[in-house]
Order: sequence, then structure tokens, then C-alpha cells
Amino acid sequence: MSSDQDLWRMRSVEETLQIYRDWADAYDTDVGQWGYATPGRLAMALRMAGAAPAKPVLDFGCGTGLSGLALKSVGFDIVDGTDVSPEMLARAEARGIYRQVWLGTPGSLGHIGRGDYATIVACGVVSLGAAPPETLDMLVGALGPAGMLAFSYNDATLADHAYMDRLAAVLAAGGVEKIAEDHGPHLPGKDMHSTVYILQKT
Ligand SMILES: C[S@@+](CC[C@H](N)C(=O)[O-])C[C@H]1O[C@@H](n2cnc3c(N)ncnc32)[C@H](O)[C@@H]1O
Repeated sequence: MSSDQDLWRMRSVEETLQIYRDWADAYDTDVGQWGYATPGRLAMALRMAGAAPAKPVLDFGCGTGLSGLALKSVGFDIVDGTDVSPEMLARAEARGIYRQVWLGTPGSLGHIGRGDYATIVACGVVSLGAAPPETLDMLVGALGPAGMLAFSYNDATLADHAYMDRLAAVLAAGGVEKIAEDHGPHLPGKDMHSTVYILQKT
């Protein structure tokens, strides 16, 4: 990575794909040495919120599979993964922990229908430098009754009005409620934090 300022800012889809194409090889080592804590916190928060471990989970923006690994390690047995970066997705697939993975298109959930997944996860995905704020609406729209969406906002995203306003608008629109919110370590080696949110369809 060139610099943190360069990573956590709004950018075009083409730039985002280029960033992750270039980062895929070193991603696990980089975030590992910074103590990447959000996947474990998010997976545990889902278990505490009562998400069903035997039901398939969609790991949206699965990257190299670190979020899937965290989900599996707390007992979610069936995890599917999708990402828009072929280079990141190839590493996720190579882990052999996903039931299936597929390459996604920015702004689309492809073949996913409403309620197909009882639980959807977007760990570090709806974020400055990755997917835009309106991705939240798309993910909430894919939840069936009682379905849960767990996602994280890092410090830069928490300070961004577009992302916070989108979250407020999704909650104000009704049909979904916030059942958990936890602020904690994200990349301790960089003194960065994140908030993990869980929304549930009413
Ligand atoms: C910071 S990584 C997080 C990866 C993984 N969830 C983790 O916790 O390690 C962000 C991921 O979001 C993906 N991404 C960026 N824009 C996206 C979009 N519009 N839809 C889906 N994934 C996207 C990137 O390709 C990248 O793999």
C-alpha cells in the first residue's frame, strides 16, 4: 500500500479494483501485522446476537477470506463468499473454507434473492476506499424476515457524513432495527478502531 491517506478515501470503481489488485498478495500479511481485529469481533457479535450457526452466511466483500475464516472459527458452518476483485477472491477460494465463491459486480447482488441468506456480513466493505454508502440499502433489501446484516465502519468511515447519513436513513425508513453496536479495535498496529453494527429485519 502506498499510504493510509490513499487507502481510506472515496474513489471510483476502477481505482478500487486497482487498489485491491495491487494489494491482494500482501493483504493478509499487512493487516495481520497490524492486528486486524474486526473480523473476529464481528463474528462474535453475530453469535451473541443469536444468528443461526447452521444457516448459510453470505460474506459480502469477502476479500482474501479473513472474514470467512473468523465466521467459521466461531461456528458458522456454511459460508459463501463474493467480491468484486478477482485477485482477492482467488485467495479466498484457495482457503477452501467457503461452500462457494463468485465474482460480483459493483452495485449488484447478482443472483441473490431476498431471504436467500439469513445472515449477511460485510466486514470492512461498506467503507471509504471500498463499496459506496448505498450498498447498505442493497444489503438490507436482501434480508428476509428476521434476517441479520452485520457490517463494520472504520474510523474514517465513521467520520464520513455520506456513510453515517446512509445508515441513519436506512434505520429511519423502518423495517429494520439496530440490535447491536460495538466500538473497538480495528487495526491496533495503526491505532485504528471500528464500529460493528448488526441490523435485523423486523
Ligand atoms: C478491506 S477489504 C475486506 C475484505 C474482507 N471482508 C476482510 O475482512 O478481510 C474490502 C473488500 O471489499 C471489496 N469491495 C470493494 N468494493 C466492493 C463492492 N462495491 N462490492 C463488493 N465488494 C467490494 C474489495 O474488493 C475488498 O476485497
